Amino acid sequence: MADRTIDQLCEKLLERREKASRGGGEKSIAKQHEKGKLTARERIDRILDPGSFVEIDEFVEHRCSNFDMAKTVFPGDGVVTGYGTVEGRVVYIYSQDFTVIGGSLGEAHAKKICKVQDLAIQNGCPCVGINDSGGARIQEAVDALSGYGNIFFRNVKASGVVPQLSVIAGPCAGGAVYSPALTDFIYMVEKVGIMHITGPQVIKAVTGEEVTSEQIGGAKAHNQTSGVAHFFAVSEDECYGQVRKTLSYLPSNNLEEPPFKDTGDDPARSDIELREIVPTNPNKGYDVRNVIGRVVDNGEFLEVQPMHAQNIVTGFARVGGFVIGIIANQAKFMAGCLDIDASCKAARHIRICDSFNIPIVTFEDVPGYLPGLNQEMGGIIKHGAKLLYAYSEATAPKITIVLRKAYGGSYLGMCSKDLGADVVLAWPQAEIAVMGAEGAANIIFRKEIEASSNKEETRAEKIEEYRDAFANPYVAAARGYVDRVILPEETRLALYQALVMNASKNETRPRRKHGVMPG
Ligand code: HXC
Repeated sequence: MADRTIDQLCEKLLERREKASRGGGEKSIAKQHEKGKLTARERIDRILDPGSFVEIDEFVEHRCSNFDMAKTVFPGDGVVTGYGTVEGRVVYIYSQDFTVIGGSLGEAHAKKICKVQDLAIQNGCPCVGINDSGGARIQEAVDALSGYGNIFFRNVKASGVVPQLSVIAGPCAGGAVYSPALTDFIYMVEKVGIMHITGPQVIKAVTGEEVTSEQIGGAKAHNQTSGVAHFFAVSEDECYGQVRKTLSYLPSNNLEEPPFKDTGDDPARSDIELREIVPTNPNKGYDVRNVIGRVVDNGEFLEVQPMHAQNIVTGFARVGGFVIGIIANQAKFMAGCLDIDASCKAARHIRICDSFNIPIVTFEDVPGYLPGLNQEMGGIIKHGAKLLYAYSEATAPKITIVLRKAYGGSYLGMCSKDLGADVVLAWPQAEIAVMGAEGAANIIFRKEIEASSNKEETRAEKIEEYRDAFANPYVAAARGYVDRVILPEETRLALYQALVMNASKNETRPRRKHGVMPG
């Protein structure tokens, strides 16, 4: 037999590569496009810097022979894995290929995902997963379940070590939802991504409820109502832009600082219009995003979970080039009060920021906790405790700006000095007190008001008396709970100075395995 030439061998390799790149074949790819979905490789190309993707394991095949599976073998086994760069920084990535056996996950498929997870942890780089799968490969039985278990285990191992981002760009059902749920951010594409534990048929059979997939698992349902997802996109392109944008604020791992960027916006820029945004009347609403937009670099703010628990705003921005994580009470929704959803949303964001050394900036204007049976029985005590826990646990720089109201327990809940805020700033209209002036006067001056011949006049006088005495930032400033009372237009510079001052913060705590998060 004649020796094969190197050219022949190279030709064979190219043929194999070509076959692998076609996934489940032209017909299946056409079907994927007809459903309005991109292919696994097209998705990777949209997330990574052009030409940077390096594929690994493209020739991995499954070893299953049950149910004639030996005849259904595709190189790559339904998931494209590898690494590349986003804005020049290395990112590991996997993308399930629905054109191959419905993107279903068996032993080999899972091992490929685990390999990139391990590499991401070992090399300290983010891991992005794109989910588009029929779930556990039924023919592979317990091997498929084991595959999921191995992925979950690594998700948890990587948590707080490297950023983990999950895109839902197709079905993601049953126990398979728990891999994304264990990661830091979930991105869902409208009419493309579906996430649920049990589908409409099972629900109908068990509870009799008639629901659609969109209702229980669509992008809107999870961004708005359940709070499972963090980003909503109307198209895959928009979604992959959100993924890239999120990564631009995150360090590659927990040992690095978040990426500083010269934004060209002067840290000393003063904005006199900030005086007009927050009304001095504590009962009037406004959009706190207008405050954030005027304070941060070039007004650029990446809001996380903008559709869920809108009474609190969370996200990322930069000030003087430094990345900051933002938590802000939103006076426009439910007067910015704290409830179960807002507490969980904010606590989670604080923990993500702290894990990745991102200074936590709190814009505070909070009237208190939402009253009600639903809240009490839903566990506002344990969920509200998450917020106190997350702030107190965080050792990243913590800067609080009291814009207006800071009442009672919610004053503490929004990171007061006592919970370890490094810098507390307050605007002149700040009211730091046990409660609002009206409520307070009605309680402590009740006897005088009732004894008065003109109750309403006395009530108004007493409210004013209380307001003058306590509804201001100076009582707290006199005791050092507030470090500085600033003009609204000084906020940006004051924030920048606080970030510079705390840039080398290094706080240690007593050794422990881990705390016990309320919940
Ligand atoms: C094996 C699967 C599969 C699966 C899909 N396929 N899901 N093969 N195991 N789990 C195959 C189909 O047989 C089909 O093969 C091809 O993928 C494309 O699927 P279609 O059904 O034609 O696509 P579509 O109409 O778009 O429907 C998509 C779907 C549906 C809704 C996802 O395929 C489906 O319901 N699949 C089963 C989902 C499921 O019950 N999975 C197990 C969940 S439990 P052919 O050869 O016909 O092209 C689970 C547990 C995880 O995942 C546990 C973790 C702890």
